[in-house]
Amino acid sequence: MAYAKTLTHLSKAKTLESNFIRDKDERPKVAYNQFSNEIPIISLIGIDKVNGPREEICKKVVEACENWGIFQVIDHGIDNELIYKMNLLAKEFFTLPPEEKLRFDMSGGKKGGFIVSSHLQGEAVQDWREIVTYFSHPISGRDYSRWPDKPSEWRNVTKQYSDKLMGLGSKLLELLSEAMCSEKDALTKACIDMDQKIVVNYYPKCPQPDLTLGLKRHTDPGLITLLLQDQVGGLQATRDNGKTWITVQPVQGAFVVNLGDYAHYLSNGRFKNADHQAVVNSNYSRLSIATFQNPAPEAIVYPLKVREGEKSMLEEPFTFAEMYRKKMSKDLEISSKKKLAKEI
Ligand code: SIN
Ligand code: FE2
Repeated sequence: MAYAKTLTHLSKAKTLESNFIRDKDERPKVAYNQFSNEIPIISLIGIDKVNGPREEICKKVVEACENWGIFQVIDHGIDNELIYKMNLLAKEFFTLPPEEKLRFDMSGGKKGGFIVSSHLQGEAVQDWREIVTYFSHPISGRDYSRWPDKPSEWRNVTKQYSDKLMGLGSKLLELLSEAMCSEKDALTKACIDMDQKIVVNYYPKCPQPDLTLGLKRHTDPGLITLLLQDQVGGLQATRDNGKTWITVQPVQGAFVVNLGDYAHYLSNGRFKNADHQAVVNSNYSRLSIATFQNPAPEAIVYPLKVREGEKSMLEEPFTFAEMYRKKMSKDLEISSKKKLAKEI
């Protein structure tokens, strides 16, 4: 089985197989632990208080969305204990023997489970990572048979975690929504129903981290991503219009908020969809938990409001499902061109 072989390589390799080696221009430029504190860190304390600092917080969030498309939130009201448990149980799963993890193998079109390397089948170069992914919202769409049953507490903790993150997500959505068109619930309405997907990324130690990536450069497709990362470091974002990479400083208990393509389009380009990637290292394995808050597949992608004197950045509306399909096939096309170029 292809996954089993790759899994062995990820845990035992002394040198990388060629399908993990990135072209020179894609390789890491900055080390996993060369931290930058440029990405804004915003406290949400008092956000729900009447006559509290909501307006001030909103201003900081909007500035961060305009300048970066990525920021960190602290004092977000999600219990440290829950965060700690979620991290611990997730990490335990990845230390299970391969045959246990492969019971949840997602290959063959299954909805959720365990993946080695990448979501996209057929990519020319592979990511140095293992993944577990769950579809967690709407609740009617959950398929518990695709949620790992070991460690035994993980399912329950994930349910609580998913609920709490839905709450944090909608708070942030209200702020973005007000900034885009002065209506608190415009984004929630535009999304029709909020889809939530959790992706747990595990990046094993890597013998040649300068040649590869844990997760290649990308923008997230959806609305916002709430990312919990451990203290190792490896998440990188760009500045200077994508020219310079920086490693995001891990902050204990903070969530990194990433804006995706849907948020970029709905704000008519005012909010950035942050380019990011994950690098790996030879000293430590790393864990991150990405929670994607996305619109329903049939939601319409089109600016919520086009301000006077501006033009819509999109010629015509399309659905989120169409946008996603196009993005993925473009990704595969680029990847197969690179593969071809290598073979010639
Ligand atoms: C992601 O982009 O989904 C994960 C990035 C990370 O692991 O830091
Ligand atoms: Fe991402």
